[in-house]
Amino acid sequence: MTSKVSESQASICVELGERSYDIEIAGGLLQRAGEMISTRLGKRRCAILTDENVAALHLEKLHQSLTEAGLSHGTIVLPPGEATKNFTPLAKACQELLQMEIERGDLIIAFGGGVIGDFAGFAASILRRGMSFVQIPTTLLSQVDSSVGGKTGINTAQGKNLVGTFHQPSLVLIDSDVLDTLPARELRAGYAEVVKYGLIDDPVFFSWLEEFGERILAGDVQARTHAIATSCRAKARIVAQDERESGVRALLNLGHTFGHALEAWAGYDGSLLHGEAISIGMVMAFELSQNLGYCEAGAASRIEQHFKSVGLPTRIADIAGQSGPHADELLKTMAQDKKVKNGKLVFIMTRNIGESFIDSEVPMEALATYVQSQCSASTST
Ligand code: GLY
Repeated sequence: MTSKVSESQASICVELGERSYDIEIAGGLLQRAGEMISTRLGKRRCAILTDENVAALHLEKLHQSLTEAGLSHGTIVLPPGEATKNFTPLAKACQELLQMEIERGDLIIAFGGGVIGDFAGFAASILRRGMSFVQIPTTLLSQVDSSVGGKTGINTAQGKNLVGTFHQPSLVLIDSDVLDTLPARELRAGYAEVVKYGLIDDPVFFSWLEEFGERILAGDVQARTHAIATSCRAKARIVAQDERESGVRALLNLGHTFGHALEAWAGYDGSLLHGEAISIGMVMAFELSQNLGYCEAGAASRIEQHFKSVGLPTRIADIAGQSGPHADELLKTMAQDKKVKNGKLVFIMTRNIGESFIDSEVPMEALATYVQSQCSASTST
């Protein structure tokens, strides 16, 4: 097992040719955001897109930093929550940005969690036929996943993120200090995405997380920075190999086909956060892999044990205030997922912790039997 890894800051490049960009990770970066933006991207007019929660806690610091660096800026503050990631708020924000006379050479700053990052990135990709944007993610989930890699988008009645683009940011600034104000439940949900990188292809990182996970959640600065940096390095490596998810990037969807179906069933009302859904989804992916004989016995229970130890849900029955989904409902939603190719579900299966692989041949019967068993277990507890 690795000993405690000490890391207080990191600089990572996402290598994408002329669209390459840096991810900077350190405490206190918000105060230096203006200087970092103007040094790397030049003096530009900026439009900040954020939400009411982030604005109340951190917007003043960002304003000050931009002003000190001589960057003029306007701000649009959106309602918090998944409902913002929709056509109506997008149209309104685009019109407001145009009323601010935003030009193609100006800069959009996505300042918030995954909703704001996806929303602002999408707006940047369509405004004036594509503008540059900077990601300043403020949740653990957005710091380790959604702010890196250029996936942008909004939701529709048909499902999550079904309208969107690949549009890479020009810079990602991760201030680990902002996590101090994040509610504990959201921090834990983001932690599930950190664990995902260990489960995909880094068993040593998973073992390290088993040892230090609780410290990360308790706010140990060096452990937290190491966890964020290791996650971003893994994501940068995968995105550099497969920017538009035609191959290896699909591994980042480990647990997501189950997770997205559970989120859709729960109704995006806050009863099940994305990270909580993929915590359950990753345990399900390992169990199904075991059932199919791909994966060594014991892997799913080891993962479940770790998620439980940090207070994450691992079973459908753990979802508060719900009576349990019907298997047919979940299977139907899975069939709508973006991960459907030529009518077949593309699943991320696994041979062991750190040995995930893409499988487009999961037998539908085995999947249906497994989902039925999970749904029955959730109604009988
Ligand atoms: N969140 C998965 C990806 O960026 O590909």
